[in-house]
Amino acid sequence: MINIAIDGYVGSGKSTLAKGLAKKLNYKVLDTGAIYRGLACAYKAGGYGEVCQESIDNFLNNCKTIEIFFKDELQHVVVCNVDYTQYLRTEEISMLAAQISPYKNLREKVKTIQQDFASKNNCIIEGRDIGTVVLPNADIKFFITASEEIRANRRFAQIKETPNSPTYENILKDLRERDYKDEHRLIAPLKPAKDSIIIDTSNMNLEQTIEYCLKIIKLKIN
Ligand code: DC
Repeated sequence: MINIAIDGYVGSGKSTLAKGLAKKLNYKVLDTGAIYRGLACAYKAGGYGEVCQESIDNFLNNCKTIEIFFKDELQHVVVCNVDYTQYLRTEEISMLAAQISPYKNLREKVKTIQQDFASKNNCIIEGRDIGTVVLPNADIKFFITASEEIRANRRFAQIKETPNSPTYENILKDLRERDYKDEHRLIAPLKPAKDSIIIDTSNMNLEQTIEYCLKIIKLKIN
């Protein structure tokens, strides 16, 4: 199977890039952040309280099944038989996912799901530690970045029309907090693998980024 890893910062455009590339290549795409978000929803629903090693252990003891399935191109995340897909994208779940994701035993559970998916599909897997930890032997590794302000602006443009949407300043603040958490955790911190191709999309639109990555993929895979 051909496996392409895409890692990168919050709001760097990696999810949209992964979907665009998958369409062109006819590959499957796995959004691993959605798995952490699904677990955060289940953690919240279970009322496990403030996040600490003990609460994570309790949660994982009770969390018997994590399933991923695809319907109409949408990735669903089902934890303990509850489909949390429609609740994944709130700011509260973003912050909770960032809080629970540093725990080693939780990451190990998610790693198994990701590796199983990669072993069965030609796919693009996007996240934070795919090139470094989950698929160290991926055929191609991209690491996507863009300036903080550009990433916050992109996010603001996506959600500014929705009711109660946060201000640009709040988005920028959340993004910095999440970057800090992702980069400074002890287990699987966000960083490019030694053999990653780093792409700064600050001055590139989606089409340009897709074309650029496709050229690299064709060179490396054919
Ligand atoms: O990509 P995202 O914003 O949907 O990710 C949600 C959270 O999950 C993010 O705070 C970091 C965490 N995450 C991770 O630790 N490792 C991954 N491979 C993907 C996401």
